[in-house]
Amino acid sequence: MIGGPRGLLEQEVSKPRSVGRTLGRLASYFRPFWLALVGVLLLMVVNAWVQVITPELLGQAVDCYLTPAVAGEFFAAEGAQGMPAAADAAQGAGSFACWFGDVPAGSPTNAYMTGLGRLVLGLIAIFVLGAITGGAMFFMMSWAGQHVLRALQVDVFAHLHRLSLGFYSRNESGDLMSRITNDVSTIQQAISFALIQVLSGFLLLGWIAWNMLTLNWVYALLSLAVVPLMAVATIWFSGQARKAFRVTRKEIGNVNAELEESISGVREVQAFSREEANIESFRASNAANRDANVRAVAYTSALAPTLEALGYVAIAIVAGVGGAFMLQGQTLGGSAVTLGLMIAFIGYVQRFNQPIAQIAVLWANIQSAVAGAERIFDLLDERPEIVERFDPRPMPPIEGRVVFENVGAEYKPGEPVLKGIDLTAEPGQTIAIVGPTGAGKTTLVNLLPRFYDVSSGRVTIDGVDVREVTLESLRKQIGVVLQDSFLFSDTVANNIRYGKPDATDAEVIAAAQLARAHDFIERLPEGYNTVLGERGAGLSQGQRQLLSIARAALSNPRLLILDEATSSVDTRTERQIQAALEQLLAGRTSFVIAHRLSTIRNADQVLVLVKGEIIERGAHEELLARQGFYYNLYMSQFKRQEQVVRASQRVDGAGLVSAPAGA
Ligand SMILES: Nc1ncnc2c1ncn2[C@@H]1O[C@H](COP(=O)(O)OP(=O)(O)OP(=O)(O)O)[C@@H](O)[C@H]1O
Ligand SMILES: [Mg+2]
Repeated sequence: MIGGPRGLLEQEVSKPRSVGRTLGRLASYFRPFWLALVGVLLLMVVNAWVQVITPELLGQAVDCYLTPAVAGEFFAAEGAQGMPAAADAAQGAGSFACWFGDVPAGSPTNAYMTGLGRLVLGLIAIFVLGAITGGAMFFMMSWAGQHVLRALQVDVFAHLHRLSLGFYSRNESGDLMSRITNDVSTIQQAISFALIQVLSGFLLLGWIAWNMLTLNWVYALLSLAVVPLMAVATIWFSGQARKAFRVTRKEIGNVNAELEESISGVREVQAFSREEANIESFRASNAANRDANVRAVAYTSALAPTLEALGYVAIAIVAGVGGAFMLQGQTLGGSAVTLGLMIAFIGYVQRFNQPIAQIAVLWANIQSAVAGAERIFDLLDERPEIVERFDPRPMPPIEGRVVFENVGAEYKPGEPVLKGIDLTAEPGQTIAIVGPTGAGKTTLVNLLPRFYDVSSGRVTIDGVDVREVTLESLRKQIGVVLQDSFLFSDTVANNIRYGKPDATDAEVIAAAQLARAHDFIERLPEGYNTVLGERGAGLSQGQRQLLSIARAALSNPRLLILDEATSSVDTRTERQIQAALEQLLAGRTSFVIAHRLSTIRNADQVLVLVKGEIIERGAHEELLARQGFYYNLYMSQFKRQEQVVRASQRVDGAGLVSAPAGA
């Protein structure tokens, strides 16, 4: 299995905190497959037995049949006087019991041939058994492992959906995703083969050593003298290779970051003529990556030859020591060294370096897998912050009277983001919220669908505290149109249908018409069946907004939250969006984080939020008359917007310039 040490050494190694607990928990996932695991263990023992017995059978072939046959012929030629050792062997004084039948001394050569033939057939049968058990063992283990991993992955996926937004603001989605996929694939590797290789490696080493020691313990100890060296060499080389690969991972990270930045920021790169500088710096990171890789590969490629060389040293010891004692006819450790014993020992020491390398290379992987499992379990143990009461009731159909009573909110304890918010929205009213960036506008509206909870005070809808009802019944009745709504890579129709999957085509089209999106959808290559790119790529920003308005319109929410986009779109699209919004807002209580003067003008109340507090409130005209914070905001921001809109309407209206929708 040393075929791929590179990939294995390349992986990140991390150490688990509590091996016992994590393994226990992982084992609980394996419980339904215990029968398969028992089968794997049995197969593993049979497989190891095949490995252990093969050298011994070769020894038997020599001692039981070949040596006596040769010696017999020799006697026949010499007239019953020959070398004492050969005579011993001829009497059946070899190191082994002859499994395939003793042949009495002095039998004709044919008798030995028959014995040898039986042994060869037996050997073939054993090889076949080894191949079958080996295959079956890996298959069964992978089968159980795949079932367990898929179950684990589904658990993680389901759990991620239960976690609150707070969790996602603490953890980056990219990190989370690569963590989960990496951890799962490390565990998968460990379960599918690393575990088996390591276990059977230990089993094999122990069994072979024990066999050698029982056959001839002095000879065995001499032959095994190289093993500690092999272990040390393997551990050192794989340690060095891992260190070098750690550097390559860092460097490849740099290379990827540069690639990603240059590709995503290609407009800025070209606009500021940074091509040459970028190529130069990419060349440098690439060179660093190359050097680190070469170093890592050097250690990896040195491992196998080193082990092989040590293996040859072991064979030399076995052959040299064994040969010397055999030729002198002396005993070693109390028994004669026969040719068969020597051949068996050569077979044994050849089988040693593989399991040693396996264990050394894979041990770290198993550790990483346990650490990965630990992280996955940590994730599964993460409790959602927003939890339903133990006896939530469903939210009754919403009329739309929303009251904030002395509401405070904070993301970090002791750092209030909202303070003493009091407000009342009557059914059907539109509440516009304006204020500088970071004032707490998004935080305020997020309290309604309980994306976050208040830290003091309460939020009620029709007199019902939002914390008393089930999340589903609450959120189903609240529509949210975000600044940059997420579109899924699915058809346009399915994107509109997202909040109401059972909507008919007619309903989808009606919603699109309300959102003024119908016309441009019709012009798409496949109309409503056009598949959108990731995050709605292929549509203009204005078109994406219209689609998200259609989506909100279709689910017909009783309460609407709208985080208006600041981005300016062309005036025709702007007017379409305005018209769509007016129709969407009509008849439902709405909270709009407003950037459009038109929305603010039409709002029943405008709340001016600064540093988490409402400092002014009233209708647009009232606020202007007060000449306070809002007045200044209007003069600096909205006044210009109004002039621009007026000017462009004149141009547009005169037919001189006609901006295409969604250009
Ligand atoms: N998930 C979060 N974790 C910690 N702090 C947050 C989180 N979200 C917002 N904040 C902080 O809370 C404050 C209010 O943020 P909020 O998003 O409500 O502002 P905003 O008024 O919507 O701003 P903008 O107009 O830029 O959208 C900011 O200081 C922000 O840094
Ligand atoms: Mg915001």
